[in-house]
Amino acid sequence: MSESPPSDLGHAALRTAVVWDAVRDVVAELADAKPLEIVDVGGGTGGLAVRVAELGHRVVVIDPSPNALASLHRRAADTGVEQLVRGVQGDAADLGGVVADSSADLVLCHGVLDVVDEPARALERIHIALRPGGVLSVVVPGRAAGVLARALAGQFERARALLDAQVDDWRPDEHGPRRFTPTEVELLLTEGGFDVERVDATRVFSDLIPSALVDGEPGARRALLDLERAVATRPEFESLAGHLHALARRT
Ligand SMILES: C[S@@+](CC[C@H](N)C(=O)[O-])C[C@H]1O[C@@H](n2cnc3c(N)ncnc32)[C@H](O)[C@@H]1O
Repeated sequence: MSESPPSDLGHAALRTAVVWDAVRDVVAELADAKPLEIVDVGGGTGGLAVRVAELGHRVVVIDPSPNALASLHRRAADTGVEQLVRGVQGDAADLGGVVADSSADLVLCHGVLDVVDEPARALERIHIALRPGGVLSVVVPGRAAGVLARALAGQFERARALLDAQVDDWRPDEHGPRRFTPTEVELLLTEGGFDVERVDATRVFSDLIPSALVDGEPGARRALLDLERAVATRPEFESLAGHLHALARRT
């Protein structure tokens, strides 16, 4: 299900719209008219957490950054959902010690597996936190798109290093933040005990094209978003995606 893009569609909305479409749908499916317990791991300043709280669900944001958590609290207060949003300083590997086992209906983990030291360890803790049948939503940067972006910028050796980087021997100084192929993200989730239900291609174009092409052109932004939505579930675009969005269920 998708909805009309907002008239003030900005960069951030353009980048997150396809993911939000899918998250909103999974929240509706899980909720079945009752409030959900949601955990946003590495939720940062709470852009997504506050949106799900606005739908009436309780969200715990776990993030190591005190500054991000302060912004989260301000955002939640400004939006009138401070009763539903709690920020806890902590790490993906221990979930701040505040999430009870098998308690979460939905865990959001967006833009985090690429920065943690051990993605598999974070997934292990998330698996324990989710109730059976609960859903994990993961967003990670796509590897081929990173190689393409480096090559288009003339950084051919850096592009080659990223292309050849081994999952088990990732060196952030040389390879940058972790990036994943669709197969790698599916394998990581499957080995973590999740059933992968879908992997969508997101930011296929918006991570690549110069912002000058759409800045100040609301019509162009809407057309670009329409295009992003059209390719999100087309398998031939998965490998090209700037970011991959996976939805997986704890069995
Ligand atoms: C790229 S931001 C993503 C923020 C948000 N999830 C989003 O999608 O907009 C990465 C976030 O992960 C947090 N982070 C970094 N290391 C982490 C860790 N070990 N455990 C949990 N969160 C971490 C950072 O503080 C930051 O807020």
